[in-house]
Amino acid sequence: MISARGLARSFKTRAAVVDAVRGVSFDVDAGEIVGFLGPNGAGKTTTVRMLTTLIAPSSGTAQVAGFDIVANRDQVRAHIGMVSQTGGAGLNHRAGDELRTQARLHGMSRPTAAARAQELAEEFRLTDLLERQVSSLSGGERRRLDIATGLVHRPRVLFLDEPTAGLDPQARAHLWEYVRRLRDQHGMTLLLTTHYLDEADLLCDRVLVIDGGKVIAADTPAALKSSLGGDLVVLATSRPGDAARVASCHFPGTEPDTRPGVVQFHLRDAQSHLPELLRVLDASGVPLDSVAVTRPSLDDVFLSLTGRALSAPRAEDGPHPSGPAPESVLADAP
Ligand SMILES: Nc1ncnc2c1ncn2[C@@H]1O[C@H](COP(=O)(O)OP(=O)(O)O)[C@@H](O)[C@H]1O
Ligand SMILES: [Mg+2]
Repeated sequence: MISARGLARSFKTRAAVVDAVRGVSFDVDAGEIVGFLGPNGAGKTTTVRMLTTLIAPSSGTAQVAGFDIVANRDQVRAHIGMVSQTGGAGLNHRAGDELRTQARLHGMSRPTAAARAQELAEEFRLTDLLERQVSSLSGGERRRLDIATGLVHRPRVLFLDEPTAGLDPQARAHLWEYVRRLRDQHGMTLLLTTHYLDEADLLCDRVLVIDGGKVIAADTPAALKSSLGGDLVVLATSRPGDAARVASCHFPGTEPDTRPGVVQFHLRDAQSHLPELLRVLDASGVPLDSVAVTRPSLDDVFLSLTGRALSAPRAEDGPHPSGPAPESVLADAP
C-alpha cells in the first residue's frame, strides 16, 4: 500500500542545508498499522509530508495506494487522509462545521456532506460536541475530530503524525482503540509517527525505527526486542564475592556479565526457564538476594542501535516547542 525507495529530502536554510531525510526505503502492506518511531528531529514529519504530497522529495520515489507521489499527486491525495501533528481544525469553528466543510471540499453535495459528518460523529463519539467551538474541546476530543476530518472521503490509507502527543495516558489509550478499529473494521492501512515507545509497542504491527533521517531498524515490536538476545536476568548475591561462584554455574548458552554482587545475562524466554535456573542456583549453595527477569523494551532496542536512550523527558510532551522553521523563508535544496 506504501512503498518508498531511497526517499530523501533536504531543506536549504539561510545558514545551512539540513538533510532531514536521507534515503529511506520501506513497504507497508494493506491493513497494517506501521509506526515511525524516533526522537524529535529524526525526520518523521518530513517523511510523512513527502508521502502525503505536501512536499516533494529531493530524491527517491514512493508509491502510495498504487500512485506515484510526484507524478500522480492528485490520485494519491484522493486515496489518503492526513492528520497533522498540529491538527487541522480552525479553533473558532464549530466541530460540526469542520466536518461538513471538509466533506464539501471533497466535492460532496450539502446533504451528502451533512450525512457523512453525522456518520463520522457517531463513529468518533462526537455527536454531542458538534455545536461546540473547536477551541473548547479537550485534547482527546480534538484529536478525534482531527481523525474524523481526515476520513470524510473514506481514504484507504491514513497518516497520523504524533496522534497522541500531549494527551494524558487515558486519552491516549482511547485513541489507540479508534486507530485499531479503523484497521479492524475498515481494513484501513495506517502509518503513524510517534516518539512514544509504548505507543509503538502496543499499537503498531510493525515499527520503523528512524534516527538522523534514516531507518535503522524495521520489524515487529516483538522481533525487535528479541533481537537483543532475550530477557535480562539479574541475580544479586548477598555477599559481593559470591558473584563469581554464581557465574561459574550459570545457565548453558548464556554469557554472564559479572560485577561485585551482581551477575546478569540474556536468556530467551527466561520465564519458562526460571524453575530450572533456580534449581541450578540452589544446588550451588550460593545465597542469593534477588532474582529479577525483565523483558527488553523498545527503549533497550533504540539504545542498542544508537547508544542513546529514546525515552524522551516528559517536558517534551506538550505541543511541539520548536517546530520547523517557516517554509516561506526557505528555498528547496537542489
Ligand atoms: N521546513 C524546514 N526547514 C528547515 N529544516 C527543516 C524543515 N522541516 C524540517 N526540518 C528539519 O529536518 C529535521 C527533521 O525534522 P522532522 O521531519 O520535523 O522531524 P520529526 O518529525 O522526526 O521530529 C529537523 O532537523 C528539522 O529541524
Ligand atoms: Mg514531527
